Amino acid sequence: MLLPNQSVNSDGHLIVGGCDTVGLAREYDTPLYVLDEQIVRQNCRQYRQAFAQRLPEFEIAYASKALMTKAICKIMQQEEMGLDVASQGELYTALEAGFAPAKIKLHGNFKKPALLRMALEHDIGRIVADSIPELELISEVATEVGKRAHILIRITPGIKADTHERIRTGQEDTKFGLGLAGGAAMTAAKLALDLPDVALHGFNCHIGSQLLHTDGFVRAATVVMDFIAQVGMETGYVAEQFDIGGGLGIRYQEDDMPPTIDRLAEEVCAAFTAAADHHNVPLPELILEPGRSIVGEAGVTLYTIGVVKEIPGIRTYVSVDGGLSDNPRPLLYDAEYEVLIANRANQQPDCIVRVAGAHCETDTLFPESNLADPQPGDILAVQSTGAYTYAMASNYNRFTKPAMVLVSDGNAELIVTREGLEDLVRHDVIPQRLA
Ligand code: LLP
Repeated sequence: MLLPNQSVNSDGHLIVGGCDTVGLAREYDTPLYVLDEQIVRQNCRQYRQAFAQRLPEFEIAYASKALMTKAICKIMQQEEMGLDVASQGELYTALEAGFAPAKIKLHGNFKKPALLRMALEHDIGRIVADSIPELELISEVATEVGKRAHILIRITPGIKADTHERIRTGQEDTKFGLGLAGGAAMTAAKLALDLPDVALHGFNCHIGSQLLHTDGFVRAATVVMDFIAQVGMETGYVAEQFDIGGGLGIRYQEDDMPPTIDRLAEEVCAAFTAAADHHNVPLPELILEPGRSIVGEAGVTLYTIGVVKEIPGIRTYVSVDGGLSDNPRPLLYDAEYEVLIANRANQQPDCIVRVAGAHCETDTLFPESNLADPQPGDILAVQSTGAYTYAMASNYNRFTKPAMVLVSDGNAELIVTREGLEDLVRHDVIPQRLA
């Protein structure tokens, strides 16, 4: 499977963003994350255009948890995107990159006072309150630092999204948000309107990730608008913003058929405007928080194949020079990917093999991959790895984290340098008595 902006050259090499992946592997070593800038920008533009056509007011806020680096922040700023952060580290990265604080939104189910203080001191645009104790804490910290906290309240719409259970968040039984059914969301809205130094701007929900159907989004739009109308009736409060979260799925495998961004916009906007009409409430500004669907299909990971081990009558194992530490998704979520031999991308695949990582445990990456006669020294390309790979990378087995290159029009530039061995011991301390 080739993704948009990919091709195969006359030597049979996979080309991404105009760059020969075999050359990239040679120049930058492997494992290597490759990110296609045009695809990232195109996805941002598709989101913005699709909603601009249909709504007077909207914002697309990139969910940086999918892939966060300073260069990504620059691209998002140039594309006029907002930015979601969900930790102190993501917030710090955004600020270091010079991202406009007013366009940053802070998420998370447990924000420590230091993080709230940092957010308030930097005047970031929105803090998403996730619970009643957190609302109270936000108010206290705001008073302490002499600022007004501009907030959204995250509600749990009671929608069970059709995706892997570990990335489902809209059902009642979740650590995230304030439930509608038990009345917690209404209590929180009333409290927020009363608390000192808190300005309530509206409501947020996020039902899950890698969603391959629009029905969950459509239901969320309706359920949250019903709630907004209810709050209006009980308090007179008019919500300015409704943030419907992220979650649009991408193509990991040939037969994955995620809805297009345009179709998502069409269906969400129809449900959203119909609900506003039905309740006769003013249309709030609609906010979306896509992560995976911005960067996922823009990423390819390159590995070098090492050992090819055939166990007669059982299977062939193909080991690559990375694995669990640069992409934990196969082990965490049984995630599946399309893979190909980058240096013989024109050869018909005809060997079913199991691709394993190089970690000291059974870190199966791709249990049954169809590859073109994999040999030691070949470059293996893994498609659709732009989201939640580098973002979730670790130093397990003291592997160093790979480099990342941004490719565009045949040029490649490093946006993350490869970790060195010295980085691994940088924080180690030998107490005097052991020296
Ligand atoms: N907004 C909120 C509040 C979220 O929690 C998330 C993702 C997003 C937006 C962006 O969702 P996206 O558009 O990327 O689906 N590590 C998992 C995914 C976890 C998603 C967590 N929240 C994975 O590798 O599949």
